[in-house]
Amino acid sequence: MSSSPNSPIVCNLPRVTIVGAGRVGSTLAQRVAEKNLADVVLLDIIAGMPQGLALDLMEARGIEIHNRQIIGTNNYADTSGSQIVVITAGLPRKPGMSRDDLLKTNAKIVVEAAKNAIAHSPNAIFIIVTNPLDVMTYLAWQATGLPRDRIMGMAGVLDSARFETFIALELGVLPADVKAMVLGSHGDLMVPLSRYATVNGIPITELLDAATIERLVERTRNGGAEIVELMQTGGAFFAPASATSVMVESILLNQSRLLPVATYLQGEYGLEDVVIGVPCRLGCGGIESILELNLTDGEREGLHTSAQSVRKSIERSQEILAE
Ligand code: LAC
Repeated sequence: MSSSPNSPIVCNLPRVTIVGAGRVGSTLAQRVAEKNLADVVLLDIIAGMPQGLALDLMEARGIEIHNRQIIGTNNYADTSGSQIVVITAGLPRKPGMSRDDLLKTNAKIVVEAAKNAIAHSPNAIFIIVTNPLDVMTYLAWQATGLPRDRIMGMAGVLDSARFETFIALELGVLPADVKAMVLGSHGDLMVPLSRYATVNGIPITELLDAATIERLVERTRNGGAEIVELMQTGGAFFAPASATSVMVESILLNQSRLLPVATYLQGEYGLEDVVIGVPCRLGCGGIESILELNLTDGEREGLHTSAQSVRKSIERSQEILAE
C-alpha cells in the first residue's frame, strides 16, 4: 500500500473484546477503558444489555477523563481485529455450588464464544475467566487451535490478591506491600506458596506463626465461596476484574510481568496435557515463558493433586461436548 502526504493517518488503537457483559465483564470493561489501556468491545447475547452498559461507560468518560471507545454489541463481527479477547460468558456459582457444578452449562458457552471470537480476531490473545477456570481454558485452547502462548486463564492473580489481602489484614500493613503467589487450579485445591510470600521482601514466616498462615491459606482457598455465600446471588467481580485487567495491561504494554497464569503444560512441573496455574511471564506475544520453581515435596504433591482434579473435569467436559 502506498501513502501520500495527504492520506489520512489511520490510528490503530488497541482493542480488547470482552465476551459476557455480566458483572465481571462490565467491570473489566470499565477498568480497561478507565486505565486508558484500549478501546473495548463488550459483547453479550442479551439484546440491548451490552449496548446500554457501553453507553453508560461512554457517558462517564468526560468525568473520568479518558477518550476510549466502548462499544456494546450482540454481533461478533463488531469484535474484529481485537488484540485481546477475554471470555467471561457463562453462569456464575450459586451458594453451595462448586465451580465444577458449572461445567455442564459453561463448557458449551465457552467453546462457542471462543470459536466465534477467533473467527473475527485470528491474531488475538485469549484470556479465559469463566469457571471452572482451568477446564474452560483447556476447552477454549482446543476450540481455537491456538498455540499455548496465546491462550490462558485468569485465576492465580485473583487467588494471590486474596492471599495478599488476608496477610495484609492480619498484619495491618499496606496490601500493596504484600507479595504472594498462588499456583494450581482455581478451586479448593489451589496451592498458595506461603514460603514465597513476603511483606516488602520479609518472608511472612518471620512475621506470622504456622497456625495463622494455615488459617489465611484456608481462607484463600475458600475466597470465592466466601463471597458467594455472602452475596447469595452471583459471586465476586471487582477483584476478578482487577486481576484480569492486570493481565491485559501486562500484555498490551509488554510489561513481561511474572504472574501466576493458568496455562497448558507440556511437561513443566512433571505435568502434561492439562491446564493449571504456574508462574508465567506475560508480554505482547502472550505467555513469553513459564518459570519452573523448585517446589518442596508437599507443594509439588499439592500441584499434582490439583492437576489430577482438573484432568478429571477435562475428561468429563469431553463427554459433555460429545453429547
Ligand atoms: C471467584 C470466582 C471468580 O473466585 O471464581 O470469585
